[in-house]
Amino acid sequence: MKRIGVLTSGGDAPGMNAAIRAVVRTAISEDMEVFGIERGYEGLINGEIRKMGMSSVGDIIHRGGTILKTARSERFITPEGFQRALDMIENFGLEGLVVVGGDGSLTGGLELTRAGVPVMGLPGTIDNDLAYTDFTIGFDTTVNTVLSAIGNIRDTSSSHERTTVLEVMGRNCGDIALYAGLAGGAETVLIPEVEADLSSICRKIIIGKNRGKVHSLILHAEGVKMSSRELARILEERTGVETKVVVLGYIQRGGSPTARDRMLASQVGYRAVKLLKEDSSSRAIGIRGNEIFDMDLEEALKMQRIADTSLIRLAEILA
Ligand code: F6P
Repeated sequence: MKRIGVLTSGGDAPGMNAAIRAVVRTAISEDMEVFGIERGYEGLINGEIRKMGMSSVGDIIHRGGTILKTARSERFITPEGFQRALDMIENFGLEGLVVVGGDGSLTGGLELTRAGVPVMGLPGTIDNDLAYTDFTIGFDTTVNTVLSAIGNIRDTSSSHERTTVLEVMGRNCGDIALYAGLAGGAETVLIPEVEADLSSICRKIIIGKNRGKVHSLILHAEGVKMSSRELARILEERTGVETKVVVLGYIQRGGSPTARDRMLASQVGYRAVKLLKEDSSSRAIGIRGNEIFDMDLEEALKMQRIADTSLIRLAEILA
């Protein structure tokens, strides 16, 4: 394979730039031409495609977001939009694509595979919701951003002797809440995968208060059925402790990627290009037990994620 494209799609994630850099520079070192596709599948449909050189990815490894921009393309899932995307791939002579994104983006890649385009899927999402890989690019940075917010929240909530419900992102996956909750010493972690027990949360707040705890922290994953505001209202009513809500929002999607995310992005980006060079069929690339690996893209997307609920119990024991 001589000519490939790279795109980022869906929600941006810190480390996407490191992945683009790895793809571009590995391709050049393998004597391949590499094209950056802007705004994900939307840019593919519009033909927003430009040749990338060594210096086009200079000075980006430390930057959050994505220099290629990203989008959630509605048109790509229409027959006309999809056909236009295929036409562009042909017009630009692209023989394979590297797609950096989450579940929806890699599923888009699978559709291209079915139409005969080899696609390498790189896990790029803060949500950590792809079952085939232990970790996704961006997750570690986001957890660290949440931890830094927890530090600030602790200062003010202990001064005021409050309970704080901290809502974090993750869509239907509770991993951001789970990891940040455990690492940040939260009393309770609520995730969509496990039903909440309100009485036990209230009991914990009251017991904590009686033994001199000056604040309580509850990590709430956005996918939990009961909203963070409703939860805070009920907790305040039942415990008598003033309860505030913090919705962290997009702060947790930006920022300079951690070393771990840069490493992961660089390694999976490199593997993707090597596979395309060897004319491999479509693969999903990820990390398992510290080893970079690849597997059939379709099989990877069929896998079901199971939350590690032992981490919730551990957070509760240790808080
Ligand atoms: O998938 C990443 C993510 O940040 C989710 O955690 C969140 O639910 C969603 O994207 C927000 O999407 P948007 O940027 O479209 O508001």
